[in-house]
Amino acid sequence: MKILTLFVTLLFFFLLCTEASAKTCTPAFCHRDEPMIHFPFRIGTLQPESCGYPGFDLSCDGVNRTVLELPNSGPFTVQGIDYAGQEMWVNDPEACLPKRLLSLNLSGSPFAGVYSQNFTFFNCSSSYIRYGLDPIACLSGSNYRVFATSSPYVVNTLPSSCALVKTVPVPVEFPFFEQVISSNLSSDLPLQWGVPQCGRCVVRGGRCGLKGNSTTEIQCANVPQRVSGIPRGARYVIIVGVGVPVILVLLGLLCHLCGRVKSYARGRRPVVGEFATAVAPRSAVVSGLDRVVIESYPKIVLGESKRLPKPDDSTCPICLSDYQPKETLKTIPQCNHCFHADCIGEWLCMNATCPVCRNSPPRS
Ligand SMILES: *[C@@H]1O[C@H](CO)[C@@H](O)[C@H](O)[C@H]1NC(C)=O
Ligand SMILES: *[C@@H]1O[C@H](CO)[C@@H](O)[C@H](O)[C@H]1NC(C)=O
Ligand SMILES: *[C@@H]1O[C@H](CO)[C@@H](O)[C@H](O)[C@H]1NC(C)=O
Ligand SMILES: *[C@@H]1O[C@H](CO)[C@@H](O)[C@H](O)[C@H]1NC(C)=O
Ligand SMILES: *[C@@H]1O[C@H](CO)[C@@H](O)[C@H](O)[C@H]1NC(C)=O
Ligand SMILES: *[C@@H]1O[C@H](CO)[C@@H](O)[C@H](O)[C@H]1NC(C)=O
Repeated sequence: MKILTLFVTLLFFFLLCTEASAKTCTPAFCHRDEPMIHFPFRIGTLQPESCGYPGFDLSCDGVNRTVLELPNSGPFTVQGIDYAGQEMWVNDPEACLPKRLLSLNLSGSPFAGVYSQNFTFFNCSSSYIRYGLDPIACLSGSNYRVFATSSPYVVNTLPSSCALVKTVPVPVEFPFFEQVISSNLSSDLPLQWGVPQCGRCVVRGGRCGLKGNSTTEIQCANVPQRVSGIPRGARYVIIVGVGVPVILVLLGLLCHLCGRVKSYARGRRPVVGEFATAVAPRSAVVSGLDRVVIESYPKIVLGESKRLPKPDDSTCPICLSDYQPKETLKTIPQCNHCFHADCIGEWLCMNATCPVCRNSPPRS
């Protein structure tokens, strides 16, 4: 009996402690318009060390921007963070990202670009003008222009008045299929991290954090559980009080929908043959995305190495089976979540939201 009491007391204290340590880790930001910062990131001056993961320390600069200092590449402004997808977007505080790309070295940091595309920088006299080549303003001067291209054809057809500067790998969002004739390389740089793996915890609505003070092990706390922590009596009242009306409403809705499906089917029947698909009105029941929009999403055919946009998601969240070599996958560009092309095609026909993060991609 004594042991039991001790056990319960310990358990109680343990719960109290984890609750307390979780409470001290409140999210913070450098400015209202800046990304919300929580584990694995932390703002050094605003959040205690135990609220962040090593390598994920941020700071706020003099104009309230969120800054990440990369060990071998210096400071970058953090433009956005996708905690569920374990991805973030950074840019140059001095608004010349291409200059930073010339000396980008991510080693020593927890971050990496998942896909990269080689860009060649070259330096031509300002008299050299070629259709489609747009100079990078912040690298060019009054008597020279600097360009960046990923097209070997462009590189091989440059006049001798253009000097090769450097070829560098640039992190890009998607595996690329097209060569870029010229780019000012100013859009935010996508970087991802593999460790700590908090994505799944975030998706489940939990709070990811360090297990203890002197460990880098993580735990997923406060995952919302259905109707737990509520006394049994209250639960009963809730079930009867909320459940019964909800079931009635659902039944009503179902009948209503059945009615509409039937009348919709009846309405469609006279339309015959080839015209059926062309003439069919935008469905009244189904509110998914247009086929054309779905078709436009980036497709990847997995190679033997099964390299994925998100290295840790080896399972299709819709059919729950593992990706196999040679399968075709599709990503929703807005959130970068990845699925079997067929699974997400069917899903988006019926629901206009991402099945993982529930964000709604634009309809056109
Ligand atoms: C930075 O934020 C502080 C507090 O929110 C504010 O007082 C200050 O004006 C901001 N500075 C700039 C440059 O926006
Ligand atoms: C990046 O920096 C590390 C450490 O300074 C160095 O060992 C490595 O060679 C660098 N990589 C490149 C591509 O410059
Ligand atoms: C980029 O160039 C390096 C060396 O020049 C090469 O090893 C690498 O495969 C290239 N990457 C891509 C994505 O083409
Ligand atoms: C391009 O060449 C000019 C001289 O012609 C030089 O001053 C400039 O630093 C060069 N730019 C780059 C990025 O190499
Ligand atoms: C880069 O090009 C885009 C259009 O392609 C333009 O909107 C942007 O202002 C340019 N940025 C710089 C720094 O030149
Ligand atoms: C973690 O360590 C710090 C000092 O390094 C201490 O102040 C803090 O109380 C510790 N937190 C817990 C939960 O043990």
